[in-house]
Amino acid sequence: MNAGNDIAIDVRGLSKSFGGREVVHDLSMQVKRGSIYGFLGPNGSGKTTTIRILCGLLTPDSGEGTCLGYDILRDAEKIKRQVGYMTQRFSLYQDLSVRENLEFVARLYGLADARGAARDMIKRLGLSGREEQLAGELSGGWKQRLALGACTLPNPKLLLLDEPTAGVDPKARRDFWNEIHALAAEGLTVLVSTHYMDEAERCHEIAYIAYGHLLARGTVDEVIAKSALTTYTVTGELGGLAAELDHKPGVDMVAPFGTSLHVSGRDAAALEASIAPWREKSGLHWQKSHPSLEDVFIELMNRSRDNFQ
Ligand SMILES: Nc1ncnc2c1ncn2[C@@H]1O[C@H](COP(=O)(O)OP(=O)(O)OP(=O)(O)O)[C@@H](O)[C@H]1O
Ligand SMILES: [Mg+2]
Repeated sequence: MNAGNDIAIDVRGLSKSFGGREVVHDLSMQVKRGSIYGFLGPNGSGKTTTIRILCGLLTPDSGEGTCLGYDILRDAEKIKRQVGYMTQRFSLYQDLSVRENLEFVARLYGLADARGAARDMIKRLGLSGREEQLAGELSGGWKQRLALGACTLPNPKLLLLDEPTAGVDPKARRDFWNEIHALAAEGLTVLVSTHYMDEAERCHEIAYIAYGHLLARGTVDEVIAKSALTTYTVTGELGGLAAELDHKPGVDMVAPFGTSLHVSGRDAAALEASIAPWREKSGLHWQKSHPSLEDVFIELMNRSRDNFQ
């Protein structure tokens, strides 16, 4: 075990199949201690499966590595004790109150002062005044805060959050992310899966996986830069333009964003040639722009669908 290491997760060549279908393919990743690492990718791309392998709940068919310095194959029990895992559907006891849920978790983990720990957490999460409310009767945003509280209560070193903010309103999501950053600043490592671009942008590093393949990783800026996408934002009289450009050589993606259209491609020369006739058209304004993270992900997803499906 290498406890002094500043890498919290270090895995290589992870693969996993279910019923003969490979859902995680040769995946390697490193996550620094104290960082927030975002996991993105389309539905069914293997995010949850990977999270479950990392915390020792699932055994990979092949691959190796460490989580918190422990071997993911041999030391699963040790890993589990130091990991807080917020599952895709929060696991709260609906018929217990906020306070009872937290005290229950505290006792489960053998904390010396379960009542005190629950009380502190209620304060930290801003749940004061809701202690006796049943978990099942909380709104989605409050349930999510309580679930986060429950999984950070035993002072884990690593938090695995699987789509923690799905279906939660923007204000609650922002508060949640502020809390995640505060925890990371205290040294906690966070691996979080999400479908939201604004959340990806709040991570220190991200990885994009599609159909089990890790296609891009790095900081948001690195991922955008590496995509080598040329993108134009078109405004004006857009009627019919999207349909006309779609599938032209060099045009990998056409997507409306509000009142504008994003047109992107990896082969800049081919893209320029295809859009040339429309660039002269009056009533249309073309502006070369940086691709957004969403542009990059959609392009990766389109490409991976062609490659792996
Ligand atoms: N225990 C299992 N048995 C059989 N198939 C499984 C099992 N767990 C996951 N799968 C399949 O593996 C693939 C990857 O699933 P996984 O849940 O890891 O994807 P995901 O990226 O988390 O998707 P989502 O964004 O929808 O949560 C899916 O096709 C899923 O149906
Ligand atoms: Mg999932």
